[in-house]
Amino acid sequence: MSDDHDHHDGNDDHELRVSKIRDGTVIDHVRGGQALNVLAILGIDGTNGEEVSVGMNVPSNRFARKDIVKVEGRELSQDEVDVLSLIAPDATINIVRDYDVVEKHRVERPDVVEGVLSCPNAGCITTGDEPVTSRFTVLEDGVRCSYCETIVREEIASLIET
Ligand code: CTP
Ligand code: ZN
Repeated sequence: MSDDHDHHDGNDDHELRVSKIRDGTVIDHVRGGQALNVLAILGIDGTNGEEVSVGMNVPSNRFARKDIVKVEGRELSQDEVDVLSLIAPDATINIVRDYDVVEKHRVERPDVVEGVLSCPNAGCITTGDEPVTSRFTVLEDGVRCSYCETIVREEIASLIET
């Protein structure tokens, strides 16, 4: 229809920027600028031959701009989705099989994350020699170490344990 102004996140036929995938995961509605951190969380740096497409700062109707990451041949674990939720709280995870979206869910922010982020405080018990599993409470705008109370609001992706 000529007066239909619904442009559906820029994915009209004449606007599709990143090809559809056949089987895998589309992480959509990622905050603009976070796509590379999404790849870091998923441990994707391109050296293992993964087939990945990334759109950055593409027009969206939900936000002004969004990033989108499409990973061929891979479905994400719940742990991965939990960590993604910290940097992409509004993301949609779409599982694609044979070109169709067979599952779609919004990420949910967990109340706590254990063993996934390392505390930036060198004096924290979790960073000492004794093995203590890290534990962070998830806040509205960041995470707080359950042991030393250090709050991290930015660069959360850089704390991800490898
Ligand atoms: N997608 C893809 N490859 C496919 C199917 C879908 O890359 N084979 C992508 C679409 O381009 C879109 C996302 O997966 O970015 C979700 O697809 P779909 O649910 O069809 O789009 P929307 O209805 O626009 O999604 P939403 O309502 O979540 O914005
Ligand atoms: Zn700490």
